Amino acid sequence: MERTFIAIKPDGVQRKLAGEIIRRFETKGFTLVGLKFLHVSRELAEAHYDVHKERPFFAGLVEFITSGPVVAMVWEGEGVVAAARKMIGATNPLTAEPGTIRGDFGVNIGRNIIHGSDAIETAQREIALWFKDEELVNWQPHSMPWLH
Ligand code: TYD
Repeated sequence: MERTFIAIKPDGVQRKLAGEIIRRFETKGFTLVGLKFLHVSRELAEAHYDVHKERPFFAGLVEFITSGPVVAMVWEGEGVVAAARKMIGATNPLTAEPGTIRGDFGVNIGRNIIHGSDAIETAQREIALWFKDEELVNWQPHSMPWLH
């Protein structure tokens, strides 16, 4: 089953948006398979944003992502990578559509609340970077024997 990596950035945590964001993924129908709350090390931040290391915003981005705690998650479901990107909205919250997380809650490209993997291969790389295998929970919400 397809999985994606989602992180609520320090601004989303500071603004108490974690519950709202998790709720959107739950009610959309995706399944949470990994969750942790952590201060991101410089090493992890640089590895995560490695593709941007030559860009002018790289240093500021690493500074920001390490400046406060982050909610790191893995969500599972059919088409979850592309669907999550749609739910998150455009990189710049000013142009992100209303109804998307960035469109509803942000105005600044450098403070855009949430990260989501941009492709299936990226998701696999990011999940492996942020989570150990044993930190991911294999379960299916619809196969619980006690479910009514
Ligand atoms: P990117 O991977 O292009 O966007 P997305 O998060 O939508 O996949 O960029 C990674 C992050 O870098 C982005 O979320 C915010 C930051 N960023 C800037 O601060 N300035 C910029 O001009 C760009 C393109 C990104």
